[in-house]
Amino acid sequence: MARGKFITLEGGEGAGKSTHAALLGEGLRGAGIDVVVTREPGGAPGAEDIRRLLVEGGVSRWEPVTEALLHYAARREHLVHTIFPALDAGRWVVCDRFADSTMAYQGYGLELGRDAIARLHEWVVGDFAPDLTVILDLPADSGLERAAAKAGREDRYERMERDFHGRVRDGFLDIARRAPERCAVVDAAQSVEEVQKMIRTLVQKRLGGMAA
Ligand code: TMP
Repeated sequence: MARGKFITLEGGEGAGKSTHAALLGEGLRGAGIDVVVTREPGGAPGAEDIRRLLVEGGVSRWEPVTEALLHYAARREHLVHTIFPALDAGRWVVCDRFADSTMAYQGYGLELGRDAIARLHEWVVGDFAPDLTVILDLPADSGLERAAAKAGREDRYERMERDFHGRVRDGFLDIARRAPERCAVVDAAQSVEEVQKMIRTLVQKRLGGMAA
């Protein structure tokens, strides 16, 4: 059986990743593809436990290296218990955030740097990478405004300073520039319908499998 495809959606706060992951999942299912829609941090029981440690509580609750390690601990659980088994069974996986989020948030945002995150990534994830990464791009201020409108308990990152979110945005754009064969940037300021149409066109063009 052919291994499934792995698609990740990335971007800053309020960019609409969760909405678009769900819509893309529906679109793929409609095209007859067996798909798992999942998220990070989370997506497996242990990873969801770790998620609570990361997205709730005080902004300075973790020292940056500890925070990067927690994200990779959650990722390892998610890979081993959810992502790898699904792909091995021929299912496609659509993931709301993956490793580019650690590079952007902890590498650029918290300024741990690219090398530190790349070393951690190499040990925990190795060569495995998404077949396609869609980066939903939005100015940090408008994203934070959108996110504040539906703020709940999980707002630890939203409460971080504006400059942090500016670095995260620049980080994602830099990641996309460095890996154009894997990444595509979509302007998330457009309507949900427009953005979803662009995502489906990208999926069809790069991976096949669905009518755009
Ligand atoms: P979510 O709101 O998209 O579910 O993500 C939870 C928060 O976790 C979000 O503010 C971004 C942050 N995050 C990181 O800082 N590093 C990571 O590696 C991941 C996956 C998420």
